[in-house]
Amino acid sequence: MNQQAIIDRYLPATLSPAAKATAFAPSNIALCKYWGKRDAALNLPTNASLSVSLGELGTTTTLQLAAANSLSLNGVTLSKEDMFFKKVFAFVELFRRGQDIPLAIETVNTIPTAAGLASSASGFAALTLAINACFSLNLPLPVLSAFARMGSGSASRSLYHGFVEWHKGEQADGMDSFAEPLATQWPAFRIGIVTVSATAKKIQSREGMNRTVSTSQLYEKWPVQAANDLITLKKAIAAQDFSILGETAEHNALSMHATMISAWPPVLYWQPESVAVMQRVWDCRQNGLEVYLTMDAGPNVKLLFLQDQEASIKAKFPDMTVIAPFSVTSIP
Ligand code: PMV
Repeated sequence: MNQQAIIDRYLPATLSPAAKATAFAPSNIALCKYWGKRDAALNLPTNASLSVSLGELGTTTTLQLAAANSLSLNGVTLSKEDMFFKKVFAFVELFRRGQDIPLAIETVNTIPTAAGLASSASGFAALTLAINACFSLNLPLPVLSAFARMGSGSASRSLYHGFVEWHKGEQADGMDSFAEPLATQWPAFRIGIVTVSATAKKIQSREGMNRTVSTSQLYEKWPVQAANDLITLKKAIAAQDFSILGETAEHNALSMHATMISAWPPVLYWQPESVAVMQRVWDCRQNGLEVYLTMDAGPNVKLLFLQDQEASIKAKFPDMTVIAPFSVTSIP
């Protein structure tokens, strides 16, 4: 099935756009990773995943009716030839019902660019929420989550704060592959971002996934491990068992990276500094500090710990950015 046919089912025959609409969506980091697509056009995952959102760090996007299409990213006007411009307007086009509705789009990332965190998840989530508001679609969150997923898989999880599960789904149209928040709040939960490099990754996650799925002999084990890890993580969250959560999340991330490294040509996102940070994390643990790590499709390392260890861990990683994901509870 194609994106347009699916989205059309949810749109009114004629759009009645508002003059202006703004939406915010947080970035997120997966504790059980999404790695592999069963449908590339719809970004349907091979496995379910679970993330924690990054509170105030994310994307704010404003759509405004205008004389012509324009896009500004962090205050800079982009040319129509820019890849990001094309990607954003190709997505908006899916919702325009073929009507001529030129839009001035402003998108601002509150994720510090220097943190080297991907903004595609919060970007597509904020854009989807802003489209819903601007085109007066009034669609329910599970539908919007499935739409955001078509822009970027992990964007499905960025419609909510806190812990979020993205259901794998079974349907061919993917409308049962959406994310939902878990009820549990964990105010003492902390994430530390240790930035090794803020430059864009060389291998996009789409390419990394495709190469892994088609060439790694380890990949067939991945969906089975991910399914088990998801169950363990949900239990650990419900029981507020940080040790189980940390061990499972770290093991999950390193297992995902093992599938990439065993692809051909190999997909290795780590830099020597990433490995040095990992070893410092393991040293900390040996010395009694409870800290775990996770990594995505890039060289930066994200640390997981609880508030009572924050000062000791900050002393070991003075440059890390600390996020308290549960300091924000609702999307404005
Ligand atoms: O949503 P994408 O296509 O950028 O892929 C995200 C992949 C990982 O960040 C590695 C894992 C995840 O679940 O976020």
